Amino acid sequence: MAVIYDPQTKQYSLHTANTSYIFQEREGFLVHLYWGRRTEGDCAYMFREQGRAAFSPRMERCEGFILDDIPLEYPCWGRADMRTPALEITNPDGSVIIDPRVAGHRVIKGKPGIKGLPAVYAENGSECETLEITLRDEVSDITVKLYYCVFAERDIITRYASVTNGNSEPVFIDRAASASVDFDRINYDVISNFGTHCRERNIERAPLKHGAFVMSSRRGASSHVHNPFLILTSPRADETSGDAFGFVLVYSGSFTAEIAANQFDTARAVIGLNPDSFRWKLLPGETFTTPECVLSYSGEGLDRLSNNFSSLFRERLCRGRYRDIRRPVLLNSWEACYFGFDADRLMQIGDSCADLGIELMVIDDGWFGKRDNDRCSLGDWFVNEKKLPGGIKRISDHLASRGVKLGIWFEPEMISPDSELYAKHPDWCLHYVNRPRSEGRYQLILDLTRQDVCDYIYDSVAKILREGGIDYVKWDFNRNMSEAGSPSLPADRQREVDFRYYLGLYSVLERLNRDFPDVLFESCSGGGGRFDAGMLYYMPQVWTSDDSDAIERLKIQYGTSLVYPMSAMSAHVSASPNHQTGHVTPFDTRFTVALTGSFGYELDPTQLSEEDREKVRSTAAFYKRYGDLFARGDYHRLRDPHTENCSAWCFVSKDRSLCVAGYVLTHVRLYGNNERIALRGLDPEATYRETSTGARYRGDQLMNFGLHAPTTLEYHSILWVLEREE
Ligand code: GLA
Repeated sequence: MAVIYDPQTKQYSLHTANTSYIFQEREGFLVHLYWGRRTEGDCAYMFREQGRAAFSPRMERCEGFILDDIPLEYPCWGRADMRTPALEITNPDGSVIIDPRVAGHRVIKGKPGIKGLPAVYAENGSECETLEITLRDEVSDITVKLYYCVFAERDIITRYASVTNGNSEPVFIDRAASASVDFDRINYDVISNFGTHCRERNIERAPLKHGAFVMSSRRGASSHVHNPFLILTSPRADETSGDAFGFVLVYSGSFTAEIAANQFDTARAVIGLNPDSFRWKLLPGETFTTPECVLSYSGEGLDRLSNNFSSLFRERLCRGRYRDIRRPVLLNSWEACYFGFDADRLMQIGDSCADLGIELMVIDDGWFGKRDNDRCSLGDWFVNEKKLPGGIKRISDHLASRGVKLGIWFEPEMISPDSELYAKHPDWCLHYVNRPRSEGRYQLILDLTRQDVCDYIYDSVAKILREGGIDYVKWDFNRNMSEAGSPSLPADRQREVDFRYYLGLYSVLERLNRDFPDVLFESCSGGGGRFDAGMLYYMPQVWTSDDSDAIERLKIQYGTSLVYPMSAMSAHVSASPNHQTGHVTPFDTRFTVALTGSFGYELDPTQLSEEDREKVRSTAAFYKRYGDLFARGDYHRLRDPHTENCSAWCFVSKDRSLCVAGYVLTHVRLYGNNERIALRGLDPEATYRETSTGARYRGDQLMNFGLHAPTTLEYHSILWVLEREE
């Protein structure tokens, strides 16, 4: 059993194959005891009351806890815990206090869904057990429920909370985190991510220091700047050893992920909705539910942690027919021709795709309204007949006759002030009355807190999809929120806009998923500005970055791989010199880097040399041959491009019979070390044959000594395919 409650000691033990997470009820509070390698025994002794008062009041006439010094499961604001809380509520009388105590619990087989929100799911009742704990604040009549969903075989626990107002008047929720964990020490490293447009999810690692370390977004999107995940490790942890604790939020809007080292040298992690852009009015009888947070612990370093998260997200967050299979090899028109296309040009590109073995062609931005640049027409989702006479159908029919599928770009959440939609509905965008509206890329954001706007978005996308011939949608979101008000909501609900927007978006995406189960949806936000677990529930892949440069992508994809599956990262071979950086990179290297994601090309195939056309043909064929490995295998990071002069990785099939490994030299160090790349995850006893040279190696040699790698030609790469001999 994954969830065990001991009524004698009032301990709740959540066990997975390799980990345990244990807490206990004491005086009605839930006190955290342990999170780490699996243990079976009574953990009550782990609780230590140290009496460190230091100006922190004691509960109940100086006889109870010093709450400020107790490891709590879901800390609430208002009594004597002065650290960052998980829950903060303003009561009808203005008091800011919530003090719920345990009122009961139950264990549910399987995993309940979270209404209106993306969430990890179980496929059958036996792969997950859910502990629901009810806490009640008798004074304000508020019920808090904590959910712990335990995926025993995956070393995963997910958490979320709900708040129900039993009062006869409204209350305000000022903060409601998805999860909070207290650690009894601070000697951890924090692995954080940072970035911007075209430079997402770079990684930094630093020892936790006193004070709060916060990664957050108040941008109305999970954002390019910080991604909603947080990792804590023991100081010397590396890929294969040491403790690693991970938190990933399943949400796409503003968030906060904080880890604070407090006065008594204890640490608290809190992750969830960003309270700076949130305040929720909860009417009598209503329940508010937070987004879900996924937690995992690995006692064997980061590699295991990443594989725990990525296989869960791949198999129990992503949905639909593309979930388990390699994705079609596609060509995207954006860097091939930007806005400069017409039907003939697209059909020529499509003919080239057919010739080169590319399975799907995507018409990116520019096919609708009167859009020839980024200044107009978002919202006018009808075909520009001047550019594309005969519509999309004519192109999809042409492509179908050549055996190529068609994909299409939308940016449905946006509206251009220069559009027919805006002329009709100037009040449909997020804005405050009598305030100017800041534009980003000449566009405003539609107000998805409104049902009529959500319906319009659904209808306009569905209409194009129903015309037929479209197998793929790239769903873009090219600015962040500002002046994010909704005049359709009353004054005391304006801080609900960020969250309500995402409830609206998720409802549209849910309908589209339901009604178009055969369409492959790809999320995008100027590349990876909304690469989060929330979007993965609706779209199994994401355009990882608008930086398509192979060398830059090494860091972006490395950082993303810490918690997300490689199959979720859309990665394309682009032209050289690269359009963003000017780097000149060999074709093989661009391929080696793009190969690890959902693969495609971002170039004009009609302009390629015969040599490069042959390369496209052979690389498309390679991806088709090994694509299942990239879709389902384990991914191992072997070299860190942030700190080393190269990058290396390998994919290994679950049965260890196949391995594809890649290496890219990013900076030549003349007369430097003999570089050799030690692989991971192979069968040590087996013999593997490298297919291009025919050389044979034992698995233990490949893992303990490794393969020699070139050290002299900058930006050059090598790809090894190793097949186990039976
Ligand atoms: C965003 C996307 C690009 C492309 C453009 C089109 O920047 O990330 O891939 O689709 O929009 O305007």
